Amino acid sequence: MASDWHTALDEIVRDLEPRLIELRRHLHAHPEPSGEELQTSLRLYQMLGDEGLAVRMGPEGCGVLVDEPRDAKGARVAFRGDIDALLIQDEKLVSYHSTRAGVMHACGHDAHATCAYGAAVALRRLVQQNLAPWPLTWRAILQPAEETASGARQMVAAGAMDRVERIFALHVEPKLPVGTVGVRSGPMTANCDLLKIAIHGRGGHGARPHESRDPIAAAATLISTLYQYVPRATDSLEAVVVSIGRVCGGSNPNVIPEHVELEGTVRTLESSVRLSTIDHIQQLARGVEEITGAKIEVQFSGSIPAVFNDADATETLRTAAAEVVGPQHCHLIARPSMGSEDFACYLEHAPGAMFRLGTAGDLSAITPLHTSRFDVDEKALTIGARVLARAVVAACEPKDGNRVERTRTPLP
Ligand code: NI
Repeated sequence: MASDWHTALDEIVRDLEPRLIELRRHLHAHPEPSGEELQTSLRLYQMLGDEGLAVRMGPEGCGVLVDEPRDAKGARVAFRGDIDALLIQDEKLVSYHSTRAGVMHACGHDAHATCAYGAAVALRRLVQQNLAPWPLTWRAILQPAEETASGARQMVAAGAMDRVERIFALHVEPKLPVGTVGVRSGPMTANCDLLKIAIHGRGGHGARPHESRDPIAAAATLISTLYQYVPRATDSLEAVVVSIGRVCGGSNPNVIPEHVELEGTVRTLESSVRLSTIDHIQQLARGVEEITGAKIEVQFSGSIPAVFNDADATETLRTAAAEVVGPQHCHLIARPSMGSEDFACYLEHAPGAMFRLGTAGDLSAITPLHTSRFDVDEKALTIGARVLARAVVAACEPKDGNRVERTRTPLP
């Protein structure tokens, strides 16, 4: 019976629910920022190892990889949960609030790690109970440093994508009610390039700016030039957003400093727009140099490509989500987000897709991502684990032989 494994997975995950809530609360209470996820990784490593899963640590003790079966030579289906927290002070009044000053799971990565853990344990038990419909060969990737856009590349370098033919992931969505899931084929997040600008002037007395080359005036001109002329040079139907998030220069009210540093991001959906915007920013900087006499160096680094969800992988997620939450609660996401996600780095190696997991318990009191009161409705944990586990089983289905026909409604 084809449906046996579905029921079995559901029962396994239902039994796991108290443990998933406990794990998520533990991670929430003990957050670690990007690149410092040593205790988080160790805990996941031990808990997954205790289940008899073949675990290995990620680079420098951050992150965990799980391979089932351990030495399988064939292609694997992977799924990823990120594990890092943010430098934000937790201001929630709940028993599991962060115990670390200034560090908080404000992006739901504690929930992602928990869902990935739940999916891994459920898949293992399904095989142990001889209820897997076909051989399951998979890898779970518990990834550090998503927020600093470096963890995915580190995990890939550690072999996370070796022999992977499909990969799935999720992100919590506080704007969607718990019990709903969002999917989207095609672009899901934006390309994001970090922008660093060094402006070198000549310092002087605040009373006599004509004797200086004022880098603060140059910075002000450059910021307003970027904000005005980048959009003016881009087709209004294309998405591009430049934001300067850090301005650093000077230390006295009456002294014109020597240098100013600016940092920001450039986000685009199309790679042609990305390239032309990068060129254009360099050109605008040359123009501001000309006007102000300051030297301006522009550097782009840390580029994260857009997450592009593969149509077939999205269909696998949509089917899984529709089975778990009901087709009426599985939404098509209308537009991509201008946020970025380093899940895109895995998609450079194999096609895959990510879904949005609704986590709002009360839509009238939404706590947005990256804010000090962010929280998730924990009923979402088993939903996320079930969707991930089902997608992995479905994607492991042998492509030759007697493929089971399923009814499919095409995505618009
Ligand atoms: Ni996030």
